[in-house]
Amino acid sequence: MNSARYHGTNQERVVFLNSKEKSAQKRTGIVVAILVALLVLLAVAAFLIWFFVFKDDDPKNTHSMLLNPKVKVFSGHMKLDGVNYDEELEDTTSQKFKDSAEKLESLLGEYYNNDPLLTNYYKESVVTAFSEGVLAYYWSRFEIPVADLEIAAEVSEERVLNLLEEAITIQSPKRSVNDIKVTSITCSFTDGRMARKPTAEDCFYRLEADEAAKNFSSPGYPDRYPPKSYCQWQIRAARENAISVSFPVFHVEDDCKDDFVQIFDSLSPDDSQAITLQCGKRPSSNPLSVVSSGNIILISFIADNSVQQPGFEAEYKVIPKAQVLQCGGDYTANTGKFTSPLYPSFYPNAMDCKWTIRVSPGEKIRVRFNMFRLKEPKVDVRKCHKDYVEVMGKRYCGELSSLSLTSTTNVLEVTFHSDESYTDKGFSAEYSSYSPSNPCPGEFACNNGMCISTNLRCDGWNDCGDTSDEKGCKCGSDQFNCSNGLCKPKMWLCDHSNDCGDGSDEKHCSCEPNEWRCGNGICLDQSVRCDNKRDCEDGSDEASCESSPDLCSIYSFKCTNGQCVNKVNAECDRVNDCSDDSDEAFCDCGTRPFKLNRIVGGQNAEHGEWPWQVSLHFQTMGHVCGASVISDKWLLSAAHCFQVPRSPAHLEPASWTTYSGLQTQQQIWDALMRKVKRIIPHPDYNLFTNDYDIALLELSEPLEFSNTIQPICLPSSSHVFPAGMSCWVTGWGTLREGGNLATVLQKASVKMINDTVCEQVMQSMITSRMLCSGFLSGGVDACQGDSGGPLVCFEESGKWFQAGVVSWGEGCARRNKPGIYTRVTKLRKWIKETTGV
Ligand code: ARG
Repeated sequence: MNSARYHGTNQERVVFLNSKEKSAQKRTGIVVAILVALLVLLAVAAFLIWFFVFKDDDPKNTHSMLLNPKVKVFSGHMKLDGVNYDEELEDTTSQKFKDSAEKLESLLGEYYNNDPLLTNYYKESVVTAFSEGVLAYYWSRFEIPVADLEIAAEVSEERVLNLLEEAITIQSPKRSVNDIKVTSITCSFTDGRMARKPTAEDCFYRLEADEAAKNFSSPGYPDRYPPKSYCQWQIRAARENAISVSFPVFHVEDDCKDDFVQIFDSLSPDDSQAITLQCGKRPSSNPLSVVSSGNIILISFIADNSVQQPGFEAEYKVIPKAQVLQCGGDYTANTGKFTSPLYPSFYPNAMDCKWTIRVSPGEKIRVRFNMFRLKEPKVDVRKCHKDYVEVMGKRYCGELSSLSLTSTTNVLEVTFHSDESYTDKGFSAEYSSYSPSNPCPGEFACNNGMCISTNLRCDGWNDCGDTSDEKGCKCGSDQFNCSNGLCKPKMWLCDHSNDCGDGSDEKHCSCEPNEWRCGNGICLDQSVRCDNKRDCEDGSDEASCESSPDLCSIYSFKCTNGQCVNKVNAECDRVNDCSDDSDEAFCDCGTRPFKLNRIVGGQNAEHGEWPWQVSLHFQTMGHVCGASVISDKWLLSAAHCFQVPRSPAHLEPASWTTYSGLQTQQQIWDALMRKVKRIIPHPDYNLFTNDYDIALLELSEPLEFSNTIQPICLPSSSHVFPAGMSCWVTGWGTLREGGNLATVLQKASVKMINDTVCEQVMQSMITSRMLCSGFLSGGVDACQGDSGGPLVCFEESGKWFQAGVVSWGEGCARRNKPGIYTRVTKLRKWIKETTGV
């Protein structure tokens, strides 16, 4: 039907011309063609300049006209010697303020003149405030003309900071003796829109905090804030106080690139002293509340010309500094609770706390963190070099959904550290003592101190998290004894999946103990393993080796330049493995910026918890299938959602409406709606076997990513999701077999099931394009209406990857009938070829 219509349009365009007309037409044609070519060239050049010079550097100023110079602003504070502090310095209209500011501004000018590059572009410095200490807050502006844009990157934070730090150590003796001396300085790149002159009048406020709470709000509140609102509130308090600012109402636009509130532990918009940057809508149950570490704080609000929202209402007051600094302590009771400083407010910057828990000799301590959020931009959660909690020599940071630890003795120390920049909600923890001889009355005691139901012991699943529930089991006659002490069903032997975790279930598969078994069953000497040479036909002898450069097999990650990396799950793991770094390219995916703290057997998801989840509505029927966001233009779903047996209209893009950023079906007006331009089911989709049950949807208009809309990471074809791994399935499908659809998005944790087991229980209806996930005991599963939705797994690198697409099942959540999903790794190549993603 489609192709017939296409034919008709073509024919209408055919026009027959006589020869004279033809040559005139030809001349005009040439001229037009040249003009068009010139225009295209110009456009390409303009785009290239934009792309390479403006785009990455400063996303907020990208819309700047191409012919304008590029502006870079740096901001920070200087600690001064030789200045007597008095209140006059706080008054920006006083002579003393003006004189001191002028001196410092010219001093900064001199510093920049020492650098042959910076001096060319330096425009001005402005001192915006002073505070006790004595600290002076400033910003400096540089303008790089279009002609020099290719060296814009050299005017960097690092260069400016190095120059300033060097300059203050070699200040001329004349200056340091009878004038101001700068003893230390901070400087960071800042959004130019935050640089305000102290004389600015519009939306620039100086407030004084005291015991009684006072309010301020964003412009226009409670109606919508006007476009181009650039506001600042400088708040001060008496020396012995800190300032607390909380936001009972907070609703700014969802995309932090457009509109945001940034709060600083400084009077300058200095990123190195930032407390937090927030956008989006916060529920009243989880209000934003921050505290300064000193007696000053700066609230900055930037709103551009995007969708305006009501804004915020803020309340500020002092709290005694002693109360802020008070943290940690000694605990001797059998049970207790402790939290990060000022919890549930954000903890302050620059804190160090220590809790010492001491229980009766002979007892041990179990600690559980019910809430753990120490997230900071640009932090590697495996190193935790910024804010962290340390327990028994190990640091924890980032966001953890559960953390339980046990002591080795009757004493346990927990320390907390926050650095100078960025804070978060922190943690809340509970501890209890237990007797090592009977740690879990009536339950099984895991080695990590957790207690689990006794019937989870020796069931083949790692329920404790440290496999201790599966160790020391007496393996049954139908079980295999792994070398590491685990028992696994015998039918998992030699099925190419490493079920024991130590490879022992795949080792002696018709090969001698000192032999390596290739994927095709051929036995070779063990020495072939990881010797940088491909000995097995399928390359399995070099798979998952730390170093086997350039050997390619189906187990390798293939870099864009053709190089192969033989490391498990090399993509987006924050380590550059490919020489062209392509394994870490396109990794802006799989994160949940807004996560604040049925499916059958699932539970309600929080708003923004699964930002890649999409609801597909068919005509006027409402929700029918799920999908996932894989880029701003493409969604991934199941082919069977669009199949003709449903009705021919299911293949028509116009029949569908997609909703992203949605949580409750009753509130679709809060979601981002997009129509569908193209539906591409997999060409090999088989209606009868459900093989290749995957489809791609091209959107008619790109999505705007936000706190609640984000793409999921797609795994490379060599990515491994091992059996037993816990993953999550989400959707608005029915809450039980034959039941009603859910209104609130549901989430359920399901486990990856070994392929052999899956084949057995599903009576060989499983192809290599399918995978099983769920529980053989039943009870938790996807169901009707979840189809097309994602099965996602969290990788240690801190990102979520999509392992499967909800495809089919026998009933829902039945015993020995797990959910069947389309295996994304197997179809990764097709996705790439079809969408470029
Ligand atoms: N085919 C179903 C749908 O259209 C999804 C079934 C998933 N079933 C299961 N037991 N996991 O929504």
